Amino acid sequence: PVPPVPAEILLGFTAVSKSLADAVIVPAGYTASVVYALGDPLSASTAAYKNDGTDVDFETRAGDHHDGMELFGLSATGTPSVSATDRVLLAINHEATTDQTLSSFFLHANGGTKTLPRPAAEVDKETAIHGVAVVEVRKSGTTWTYVKDSAFNRRITPLTEVEISGPARGNALLVTKFSTAATRTRGTLNNCGAGKTPWGTFLTGEENWNGYFTRSATDDSARGSDKSVVSLKRYGRNQGAASRHGWETGGADDKYARWNNSKLGASTDGSDDYRNEMNSMGFVVEMDPYEKTRLAKKRSALGRYAHESAAFGPATAGQPLVVYMGDDSRNEYIYKFVSSAAWSAADATAADRLATGDKYLDSGKLFVAKYAADGTGQWIELAMSNAAIAAYAPYKFADLADICVNARLAADAVGATKMDRPEWCSVNPANGEVYFALTNNSNRRAEPGASPQLAPDGPNPRAYTDLKGTSIQAGNPNGHIIRMKEGAAGNTATTFTWDVYLFGAEAAAGTALVNLSKLTNDQDFSSPDGLVFSPYTGICWVQTDDGAYTDVTNCMMLAALPGKVGDGAKTTLSYPKAAGGTLDVDTFVGKAPTANTLKRFLVGPVGCEITGLCETPDGKSMFINIQHPGENTDQANLADPAKYTSQWPSNTGYGAGKRPRSATIVITKNDGGRIGS
Ligand code: FEO
Ligand code: CA
Ligand code: CA
Ligand code: CA
Repeated sequence: PVPPVPAEILLGFTAVSKSLADAVIVPAGYTASVVYALGDPLSASTAAYKNDGTDVDFETRAGDHHDGMELFGLSATGTPSVSATDRVLLAINHEATTDQTLSSFFLHANGGTKTLPRPAAEVDKETAIHGVAVVEVRKSGTTWTYVKDSAFNRRITPLTEVEISGPARGNALLVTKFSTAATRTRGTLNNCGAGKTPWGTFLTGEENWNGYFTRSATDDSARGSDKSVVSLKRYGRNQGAASRHGWETGGADDKYARWNNSKLGASTDGSDDYRNEMNSMGFVVEMDPYEKTRLAKKRSALGRYAHESAAFGPATAGQPLVVYMGDDSRNEYIYKFVSSAAWSAADATAADRLATGDKYLDSGKLFVAKYAADGTGQWIELAMSNAAIAAYAPYKFADLADICVNARLAADAVGATKMDRPEWCSVNPANGEVYFALTNNSNRRAEPGASPQLAPDGPNPRAYTDLKGTSIQAGNPNGHIIRMKEGAAGNTATTFTWDVYLFGAEAAAGTALVNLSKLTNDQDFSSPDGLVFSPYTGICWVQTDDGAYTDVTNCMMLAALPGKVGDGAKTTLSYPKAAGGTLDVDTFVGKAPTANTLKRFLVGPVGCEITGLCETPDGKSMFINIQHPGENTDQANLADPAKYTSQWPSNTGYGAGKRPRSATIVITKNDGGRIGS
């Protein structure tokens, strides 16, 4: 029998202190356990993980750098269930891998080859630890374990065939030697934030995919006057750019050659090389976690950029659906997609889930956010009907497919607001307001120098930080969380109001320009990244991926009970200028949290980022990810585990070897209560 839920006070737990320990710390009365770590076998025939760099077969093992994650319930007979609390599928992004010089050094016995060319066997292993996993997990008594031989277990890697869907399907921009019809590509890459559709599928956002491609030092002239050069530069690939891991040097096979995005062939359409390959990455990808034989689909209508999470607004029968999304690079934008189709509640349980995705995610309008200083803002549609796009001189758009594939350029054309790195977004189930974590921005300056430095503005008002009241650091290293309330039209509104819910800061910092939310030692944090509202408790969970405060504390997760847009006050930040006088920036600061509305819930092991969050629908089991513990280990110290900055999770008794491993953990409350109470 399940114990009754005790009388519940949300955020009733005792706040966790900042910590530099190599451990996951949760409040008294809670338990955190590892359920699924890098290398864990996902089939009956895959060998146990030795964790010494000799393991292979990563196509049937857990990938690396666990990130965004969603939960999909299973009934006792293995059919989809929205109420399951003890048998579920986790769909998990495996974003990247821990590297310093080309190779993923913890994945190879000797740390791998740190010069080009890279051996094929090393490239094959590194490719396979990227992508997405679906893994079944079950609860027996109070213990959750993953099911090694579940028929649902699945890996998608950067080599798995995927369909192009939406406006870019069949478009010339996606023609490659692999798919001359531009309808398919291989795989998904650098999967970061996630989302769950109202019809029960998984959305995964492709983030820093551009860094995996190389371009030859003479590619601009090879392309001549082709406008693709403008696009490649806008997406961070100047000619001569080196790839992160050198995978293109693995051999002659196309699976290596594809990472060279240079124009090499003689064709006019790209059908004989991979000059267009980068155009097939950077999307929100939909997959059906229940049907492992069906190809995932890249939903090009949602735009191509460095995607984080994809968060749906309220699904109301008869109204279009809305999906909010951010582009995580410095000075990039916030977007929303509004479906052409109106929501039909019957689609929540449609048998063909990917066909339902076709209905809602392949046709609609893509908008970008433009904020005004007075606390209002506009959603601007990215379409050929917008004169600013049709007439844009730096890049001549051909059609909607071109706009979707080059969404950053279209957003430039309409003068959207450049933000401090939009990471995850989530919608408050209590009122439909949408929250975006703006993680940090080293390019925000009170007195900007050369481009791309920007002056602070209302929605991105901080330009330097007073570190512990002792020194000044330029930029916005601690980040903030902005929130928006749609106009009267709701999902289809083209206007909104906004304020800044919360500013990251060190508690000891001054409150005039930095600790604007007046955070205490139980609340202070830096660089918000993961942000998820629980649909069950309404708690807003904030996870950090920080470099600015890690001398004091490892990355963390906080629980928040926020108010609403406009509950605070207009505030003017006055930055002293070198030549005298001040730069005055007006912003709107949400009501400061109290000890009962914001509390640190968890601190992770050394060198990790906290990310991903999903719960069973009773709110009693929460899954989160510990990404890249020990990332700051010097690769030269691979042979000496004592010099690893982290030995988690082996130091908790999980698995063989001492090399640190990204992992999914489950958090439960010892009295059987809900997480966050
Ligand atoms: Fe993969 Fe923007 O974090
Ligand atoms: Ca992130
Ligand atoms: Ca981040
Ligand atoms: Ca990371």
